[in-house]
Amino acid sequence: MQKRTKIKELLLTEPTEQLVTVKGWVRTFRNNQFIAINDGSTINNIQAVVNAEVADEATMKRITPGSCVGVTGKLIASQGKGQKVEVAVTSIEIYGDAESDISKPNSYPLQPKAHSLEFLREIAHLRFRTNTFGAIFRVRHSLAYAVHKFFNDKGFVYMHTPIITASDAEGAGEMFKVTTLDINKAPLNEAGEIDFKQDFFGKATNLTVSGQLEGELAAMAFGEVYTFGPTFRAENSNTTRHLAEFWMIEPEMAFFDLNDNMDLAEELLHYVIRYALEHNKEDIEFLNQRLLDEEKNKPQTERSEMSLLEKLQFCIDNKFERVTYTEAISILRESNHNKKKKFQYLVNEWGVDLQSEHERYLVEKHFKKPVILTDYPKDIKAFYMRQNDDGKTVRAMDILFPGIGEIVGGSQREERLELLETRMKEMHLPIEEMYWYLDTRRFGACPHAGFGLGFERLVLFVTGMTNIRDVIAFPRTPKSAEF
Ligand code: 4AD
Ligand code: MG
Repeated sequence: MQKRTKIKELLLTEPTEQLVTVKGWVRTFRNNQFIAINDGSTINNIQAVVNAEVADEATMKRITPGSCVGVTGKLIASQGKGQKVEVAVTSIEIYGDAESDISKPNSYPLQPKAHSLEFLREIAHLRFRTNTFGAIFRVRHSLAYAVHKFFNDKGFVYMHTPIITASDAEGAGEMFKVTTLDINKAPLNEAGEIDFKQDFFGKATNLTVSGQLEGELAAMAFGEVYTFGPTFRAENSNTTRHLAEFWMIEPEMAFFDLNDNMDLAEELLHYVIRYALEHNKEDIEFLNQRLLDEEKNKPQTERSEMSLLEKLQFCIDNKFERVTYTEAISILRESNHNKKKKFQYLVNEWGVDLQSEHERYLVEKHFKKPVILTDYPKDIKAFYMRQNDDGKTVRAMDILFPGIGEIVGGSQREERLELLETRMKEMHLPIEEMYWYLDTRRFGACPHAGFGLGFERLVLFVTGMTNIRDVIAFPRTPKSAEF
């Protein structure tokens, strides 16, 4: 067989009866004649037309949804609706069969009909072969590429920070342990506690929750760096927004204050969303239509005001609203929603952490656009955030998105050694063990800032999906680590 051409390219090619080869997976086979083949390069299939001269009866029987085929033939103008070109097949090869008779064991579960997202989650190893998941994962790819392009074009250095670590960057203690000790016979020290000196690394280690602290070290040499890697959190929150393993983008910039930090985060979000809109037009249009179809089944009052495409366009056309935590609390406290006790957690006092219902109220009901909240109370934020002169708040910023809630968390960092050490003592953090982090404040400290963008939450927003399990290939969540 001659060299294969990808379907994406063929669909843009003028048909001049040139000989082409297509290899891919059968989506449908109609009338013993029309094969719809998809090879993942685009959401669109190419139609290949076979007849009895090319494929004998036994071969015809093997052309079933899910089977893998290679066809060679002439590229001709298509008579059928919906496609410009098709392949008039002169030879066909079946690479792999897929049993389509569902009464038989091990039959192919993806028959050409609509499947629920819940069902597809159970067969996540096959769901890439559907239109919806094909679109989602091509968009995910583009977003990842756009992130790297954005930072590369600005001269940032990409850092690979460790995945195994002995420190808890967020101080939240929601970490997975990494050990080679036999958990049934772990050695004990004199105090009767597990003796991690005998463990692989000679100390207790975990999977990282963030690359930020190491990112800060590098920023003190390269000026502007970013990480983009997997992070792990053992928080037992079984929600549609949380994963135990997720990917995070964490830029860290010397000489940036909180405003510079917010400007960069906003520019990054605008850039990557625009990139996906431009490079994944067909995929996003498909996802847009998918949501419109879904909405038709909902009562009028529950339908969203904007389609996915309108929402994305609105997001890149508008500046995000910037408000302080203190202003947000008074908006929430005074809201009719609060007065009529419609929040599960009522907002009464300054100092409470915001629940996602509050974040979504601010974004979806009050401001009706993405919001950046700044200057949170220090007691609900991490130790490394720069303290304001009021003694109560820190230079934090969270970006809240419609339908998502928090998508970015970041801050200006506390660069003043004494204040940082005092805060770490107050929060009972191991100051001696973190000498390396404090060294950046001892040697050539400077004002700096950074943030973390949750990659799956970004993919959720751009694809319009509503469950985070549908935008990562193999989700890890409480009680679930299949595949
Ligand atoms: O707000 P977080 O915890 O911030 C940090 O980890 C900082 N060290 C970032 C920094 O300043 N360099 O997490 C950042 C983002 C959140 O806004 C959210 O989008 C995402 O990471 N995130 C999660 N995404 C999926 N599942 C989870 N369990 C997540 N936890 C946080
Ligand atoms: Mg956060």
